Amino acid sequence: MKLVADRIILALLSCVMLAFSATSSFAQGDTYKDAFYWNKQLNPGINLDNAFVMRDGKLRAIEENHLALIASAGFKSVRIPVVWSTYTGSNAPYTIKPAFFERVDKIVNEALANNLIPIINIHHYTAVMKDPAGQEKRFLRMWEQISQHYANYSPKLMFEILNEPSQNLNGEVWNSMLNKAIRVVRKTNPERILFVGPGYYNSYTKLSAIELPRGDHNLIMSLHYYDPMNFTHQGAAWMGDISESWLGTTWRATEYQRNRVIGHFDIVAEWAENNDVPIHIGEFGAYDKADMTSRVKWTRFIREQAEKRGWSWAYWEFCYGYGIYDRHTDEWRTDLLDALLH
Ligand code: BGC
Repeated sequence: MKLVADRIILALLSCVMLAFSATSSFAQGDTYKDAFYWNKQLNPGINLDNAFVMRDGKLRAIEENHLALIASAGFKSVRIPVVWSTYTGSNAPYTIKPAFFERVDKIVNEALANNLIPIINIHHYTAVMKDPAGQEKRFLRMWEQISQHYANYSPKLMFEILNEPSQNLNGEVWNSMLNKAIRVVRKTNPERILFVGPGYYNSYTKLSAIELPRGDHNLIMSLHYYDPMNFTHQGAAWMGDISESWLGTTWRATEYQRNRVIGHFDIVAEWAENNDVPIHIGEFGAYDKADMTSRVKWTRFIREQAEKRGWSWAYWEFCYGYGIYDRHTDEWRTDLLDALLH
C-alpha cells in the first residue's frame, strides 16, 4: 500500500516538474540571451535519427529511457527530427493532427525534464523540395501552428526551419521562403532561437545565397558536414548504387584530409565573421559500413575543428546506422562516444 502511495506521489511530482520545465518561459525571470549565448550551451549535442518518421507504416520513435541515457552520458542538446508533413492536412487550413502534437510534446517535455535543450525541426518534407511554390502555403501554415503551440515553452526549446533544403528549393526561392517562415515564427516567438540553413542539404557552399533579417539576434546558422561523401556515406542504400563502389574508403587524418576540412571550415568562419551569426554543425557522422578506426578519427577531427572555432554541433546520430549507441545490446559504442566527449 505504502509503495502504491509513494508511486502516486512520485508520479504527481514528476507531472509538476514536467509542467514547470515546459512552461518556464522568459516570464519566469530569465533575462534575455542572444544566439551566441545559447550556441555555447549546446555542446555536446546529438541527433535522434529520424525520430518521428513513418517506416513500414509504423512511427519510429525513441525508447522510453533514451533521453535519460543521452543526458547521463553528458549530452546537453538533442536535435529531434520531426516529419510534420505526414500528419498535416493536404488542403487548407492544413491542420496538424492534435494527436501528433501530443507525441512531439511528450518527447520535448522529456528532453526538458532531463535538462537537455531540444531542437525540433521540419524534417524529410520532400514535397516542398519538389514543388516549393505549390507547398509554400502549407509549409508556412505548419510553422504558424507549431510556433503558436510552443509559444509559451521554455526558451530552451529551439526551432529549426527546415532540414536540408534541396532540389528545387534553393537559391532565391529558398531564401525567400526561409525569410517568410522566420516572419511567421517571430509573430508568436519573438526571441526563440531559430536555426536556419542554406540550400543543397545545408551546405556551406550555398551560404552566400542566404540573406538573414537584420536585427534578429536569435538566429543560428546550421550546416551539415559529411565530406568526403564517399567515406561517410559508403554503402548507404539511399545514395543509390554508387555508394556500393565507395565501400572500403578510409579516413586516416592524413595532411591532405585534415587540410580539406580546415579549408571548408575556414570559409564558414569567414562567413560567420562577416555576418555576425553563430554556427552549428547540425549533422555530421560516418555510416557504420566504414571502418571504425576511420569513423573515430573523422568524428573526433570534425568535432575538434568545430569546437576550436567556437561552434556548436550535433552528431548524426544516436542509435541507428551512424549510432553511438547499440540499441540491440543496450551498450554505448565507447570509441565513438569518446571521440565526441573526450
Ligand atoms: C537524413 C537521414 C540520413 C542522414 C545522412 C539526414 O538529414 O534525414 O535520413 O541518414 O541525413 O545522410
